[in-house]
Amino acid sequence: MRRKLWCVVTVALTVLATAGIAAAANGGFTPEFAHSPNAHRTNTAYWVVLAFTSVIFVAVEGALVLFIWKYRSRGRARTDDGSQVHGHTRLEVIWTVIPVVILAVIGIVIFYELPAISDAPAAANPVRITVEGHQFYWQFDYPNGSRSINDLHVPAGQVVLLTVRSYDVVHSWWIPQLGGKIQAIPGRTNHTWFKADRAGTYYGQCAEFCGLYHEAMRARVIASTDAEFHTYVSSTAAGELGRAEFQGVCATCHGMQGQGGYGPNLSQNSQLTQKTGLTDIVRNGRGKMPPVGDSWTNAQLNALLQYAKSHVYKGASASGG
Ligand code: CUA
Repeated sequence: MRRKLWCVVTVALTVLATAGIAAAANGGFTPEFAHSPNAHRTNTAYWVVLAFTSVIFVAVEGALVLFIWKYRSRGRARTDDGSQVHGHTRLEVIWTVIPVVILAVIGIVIFYELPAISDAPAAANPVRITVEGHQFYWQFDYPNGSRSINDLHVPAGQVVLLTVRSYDVVHSWWIPQLGGKIQAIPGRTNHTWFKADRAGTYYGQCAEFCGLYHEAMRARVIASTDAEFHTYVSSTAAGELGRAEFQGVCATCHGMQGQGGYGPNLSQNSQLTQKTGLTDIVRNGRGKMPPVGDSWTNAQLNALLQYAKSHVYKGASASGG
């Protein structure tokens, strides 16, 4: 009797500990807390599937442990056969019907949730933004023509329609709190959307292995009031572009101060201060450096030039750098 109790207690504690670790948000296996209607629906689908699989897991593993204990050898010879059982129609019908019902319920829930995950709700004035994946940064284009790198600014509480493209290889746009992944594929245009339920900063990461600095391809969505959003796109964005380009693109390999890293030190490279030299290298690349700014506008190049002159270039070294 005592052994039976120990057995049950051990199994129960193991199940609880495992479930606790698995369900612990932020670092566990459960989804991020949703802040957009499509993310809510993705999470609902996750929890429905988890509920069924948890019950099945506990039932199957519980039966396994119970049978191991109940039908242990008890001193019988190893060669002894168990009792032979043939056909049990009722049991067979039950173990066929139950899984069919479970799969049907999961299927119904998923097909009910799916349209509102992928299709944006009708909105009077949705904000349309183009997201372009580059090795190794995200570039955002706003309706008024302004551009930002890695930080996407949006108004909270409004439907944001994203047109997702890639400039080079396959990337995957993913801000977990604002909905599921969508791939950025060269030569193809994908669409997704979100509606941030409150002002705040939402973090994401390119979710498709896209090269050496895939892990550096982070993104933030900064949701603010409508007024703050309009201030950002009409004036702030242009002023911040040079810094965003350097920190979001160049710094990945050359360090935040241009001090060097995977790529060489830039702080004493006078090419940084000349428009033609800078344009040539970001447009065409050199050696291991990809043409990161191949698609950049003249305004973008000027912004980078200004930032590099005032914040990165520290003067030629004695040896001529
Ligand atoms: Cu872009 Cu991984």
